Order: sequence, then C-alpha cells, then structure tokens
Amino acid sequence: GAQSSASGPSAAAAAPAAPSSIPLTILYGTESGNCEELAAQAKKAAAAKGFAAKTLDMGDIKAADLAKVKNLLVIVSTWGDGEPPDRAVIFYEQIMGDQAPKLDQTHFSVLALGDTSYEKFCQIGKDFDARLEALGAKRFHPRTDCDLDYEGPFKKWLDGALQNLGSLAAPVAPVVSNGSAPSAPAIEYGKKNHFPSELKERVLLNGRGSIKETIHLELSLAGSGLTYDAGDALAVVPSNCPEDITAVIEAGRFKADDIVPAPDGSDGPLNEVLAQYYDITGLTKNIVKKYNELAKSDVLTAMLGDKEKLQSYLWGRQVCDLLTDYPIGLPAKEFVNLLRKMPPRLYSIASSMKAHPDEVHLTVAAVRYDAHGRARKGVASTYLADRVAIGETIPVYTHHNKNFKLPANSDTPIIMIGPGTGIAPFRSFIEDRAADGAKGKNWLFFGDQRFSYDFLYQLEWQDYLKDGLLTKLNTAFSRDQPQKIYVQQRMIEEGKGIYDWLQDGAHFYVCGDASRMAHDVNEALITIYQTHGGQSREDAEATVKQLQKDKRYQRDVY
Ligand code: 2AM
Repeated sequence: GAQSSASGPSAAAAAPAAPSSIPLTILYGTESGNCEELAAQAKKAAAAKGFAAKTLDMGDIKAADLAKVKNLLVIVSTWGDGEPPDRAVIFYEQIMGDQAPKLDQTHFSVLALGDTSYEKFCQIGKDFDARLEALGAKRFHPRTDCDLDYEGPFKKWLDGALQNLGSLAAPVAPVVSNGSAPSAPAIEYGKKNHFPSELKERVLLNGRGSIKETIHLELSLAGSGLTYDAGDALAVVPSNCPEDITAVIEAGRFKADDIVPAPDGSDGPLNEVLAQYYDITGLTKNIVKKYNELAKSDVLTAMLGDKEKLQSYLWGRQVCDLLTDYPIGLPAKEFVNLLRKMPPRLYSIASSMKAHPDEVHLTVAAVRYDAHGRARKGVASTYLADRVAIGETIPVYTHHNKNFKLPANSDTPIIMIGPGTGIAPFRSFIEDRAADGAKGKNWLFFGDQRFSYDFLYQLEWQDYLKDGLLTKLNTAFSRDQPQKIYVQQRMIEEGKGIYDWLQDGAHFYVCGDASRMAHDVNEALITIYQTHGGQSREDAEATVKQLQKDKRYQRDVY
C-alpha cells in the first residue's frame, strides 16, 4: 500500500516519543480497503511515536469488547445512502443498540471517510462519534470528515490525535534515536506514483443494436512491479474531456491561459491544470457552499437552507451549470480553489495475472446521457472509451481488496452473481482457478439486457463450460421478453441448488450495481434460506449476516 509521510522517519523523529506502555487500538470499518490501509498507516505512525498500537477490523470484534479498550481511534467509511461497510454492520448495530457497553474508561477520536456528493456524507463516522460519547467515552481529538481526497485530512487528524493522546498520558523521557539513517527507497509505483500503463487493446463487447456500450481493455503492467490478485481493483487517473474544459472556461468567462495553482503546488495555464488535476464535473453541496461564500447570492443562500431544493438543483448538474446559472466573474485562481482534486476511479480487474503476466484487463461501461439540455459523459469511462489511443499510456496503480477474494482452499465451491460489468472479477476468478488447476466447483449467474448483443465474454464462458471449469451458468436477459427477468429471479428458480452448495461450504460473491441489484440479490438469498432451509425470516437474515461475517458472502458493488 501507499506510504503516508506521517509514518515516515522524519515525522517520527520530530515528535516526542510516547512510552510503549500507552496502548492504542485502531478500529476500522472498511469496504473498499481504504480505511484498512489508513489504519495500517496510523499504526505505523503511532508505533514510530512509541505507542503500543494495534489495528482491529470491526468485522472481528463484538461491541462488548470495546469496554476494555482504553485508547481508541475509529476509522470508518460511509457507503451509498448512509450505510456502514458490509463487514461492520453487526458491530455498528450492536454499538447503536441498547446492549451497548458503558465506555467510561475509553478515550477516542473518529476519522470518517465519505463522499460529499452523497446526502448522508460521513454519516457512519458521525454516528460513531456521537454514540461513543453518549456511552461515556471521552473524545481526545475532534472528528474529521473526509471527502474522496482523504490523504491530507487523514494526516492532519492523525498528527493531532497522536499529539493529544501523548500529552494525555504521563510524560516520559523521550527515546533517544540511535541515529541510523533510513535506507533509500526503491522506485515504487503506487497511489503516490502512478504507473504509465500502455493501452494495448480495446474491444467493444456489445453487438450492433445494443443500447449498452461495454468495453474490454487490456493494459500493460510490464516493468511496473505492480501486482494484483483476483478480486483486486485497478485505480485509473483520468483526464477531463477537452469539450468539458472549454465549457467550464466559457461558463466562468475565464481565459484558457490564466495561470492557476495545481493541487501539487505547481502553477500552470488553466486549461492544462483543469485537464489533469481537478474534478470539473462533480457538483456537490460543498462546492455550492464555497461558491456562495463568494457569490453571496440570495437564491443560492435560500437553496442551501432547503435540502430538497438543493437536491433537486444538484441532480444531473455539473460545475459548469453553477457557473452559468449564477455568474459572478470569479478569478480563475479562486475558482480552482473550489474544486476537488481529480479522484482516481477504481475498476474491478477482469483478468488474472496467472493467465496474463504483465497485463491487466478491465470491463468498463461508457457512461453517456443528456441532462438539463447538455450531453454529459462519465469522466473516467469515456476517457478509457474515447480519449486514450492504443499505444498511449494511462496513469494507474493496483488497489488490493482483501474483502473480495477467492476461498483460500481451491476445493471450495463458489457461486458468483455478476450482471452487467459486475462480470469483471468473475472472469478473473475463473482465469485464476483455471491457472491453478483448482478443483472447486464454479457457478456463475450473469444478466444483461439482451442475449444477442449483451452476453459479455459469451465465447469464453461457453469454452469454460465445455472444459468443465465452469460447472453451471445461468443467465437472465432482462429485455428479451415482455416482462423483466433479473439474476435474482434465476437464483430463486435455482434456490435448492444454491442452498445445497452453501450447505457444502460454497462461498457466495456479488459484483455490480449497488443501488438495487445487490439489495435484491441479498433478499433472494434470504428467501432461499426460508424456502429451502425452513428458516423464519429472522433466522434467514441472521444466517446471511453470519455468512458475511465469516467472509463466505462477499460483495464488490458500486
Ligand atoms: P434492465 O436494464 O433491463 O433493467 C445489467 O445491467 C443487467 O442488470 C440488465 O439486464 C439490467 O436490466 C439488470 N438490472 C436492472 N435492475 C436490476 C435489479 N434491481 N436487479 C438485478 N438486475 C437488474
């Protein structure tokens, strides 16, 4: 993972050392792995300052265990409509419920990860922060809420938290440095140093006549030293579309060659800086708020005070609409200050390194739509679909996802639910198992709109079926008949088989749409335990939660 400078040798040397007798528990709730990585960085930084620090996954403890924790850092993310990470759900419910322990021996501070484009921004972190205090714990450092660009705020929060915690405990003589110099780091590609990966192949997977545009991409990792396992993701750092940049420059009446700062501290002409470094499409409440601090518009002030009005304004609108609708003649320099740094996009990897050494494959749906009289497009998906030519390079790094992994035992059967681009990691799973000669059975459910245009990687699946590597394949083509048929309906039809496989220890995986599909598939799973396991609704829900806790039910949804 990436290194934080907070954990580097200079930060450690500058800070007063704490006695290693000060225990510190860093409790994290992670979905994509970001909070886990930050917890690991925090542990390293804390250890460098002399704390006896350890990390702990919310999926691995009970609320009652918290009572024993003296010093606590909580690092947790919020998903979708204000939900905790999957593996943190049980712990979260225990803490919020009436069986929660008294915590009057505990000192704590919370770091919340989230995304300001969602209404319930950082809600889970806020919930923990309030609840821990209500249970009697003392906050030794204020909560920090982070947007997508969380590295900077994390470091600030951690420095402050460790400093406060150090001074809270009895002061001791600092540990004297032995003066050994840190060895020079090797060149390493990662989150801080993106690898320029050559685009080698791009294929449209949908047939003529489809309304979908799903693209298969093959990128080179040769010479990068980057590795990945089946289930991991590739982070792609896109550039903006030239038309979007022009639209923003015109809407704000800026000049393309106005000199503005980039987030890394360098200066450059506006059009170049906007191309690479800033998110110029995503319009959030936070941007409107900061904009209105300068605009002081009565209309915007009223809107910011009315949740529903604000939501309906933000819907489908982008930064350039704000500039058009409420022009204020902002200098370009102040404008870029309002923007978020260009966030990398994570794509589930569609290949196995064992089958394609030095390569990484992606399955990407190009996002294009019209809203408020303007053609819009997804920044990263259309960057990959349209703007990078074969032979050009794409800035990437690999992102490890511990929560979406094949069973350690290759004999274990797996069931995979992957409609649409959700198919990607299952192509990597099957390639991986094929390369390993794994004996475990493999069952795939795939769904998309039409059999004739949208059966992604159809020939590969048919070959795997023939070879016996794919044990079963069920498809749901939603638009080939008058009524919709979705993967969850196929699951119900195959309920007995799914139940038997699960009873035999199968692992169950879901990838794809989070807004509805993942929920409906979860419901189908509960129904299967009711119908074929004779369980009550309540017991079936508990069984499914337990599967999740045991890491036999894993999701990669977006
Ligand atoms: P639709 O577009 O016809 O509604 C991949 O995008 C497939 O997932 C499509 O066939 C899509 O069907 C389907 N889909 C849409 N909503 C879904 C849901 N709630 N559950 C499962 N599949 C869904």
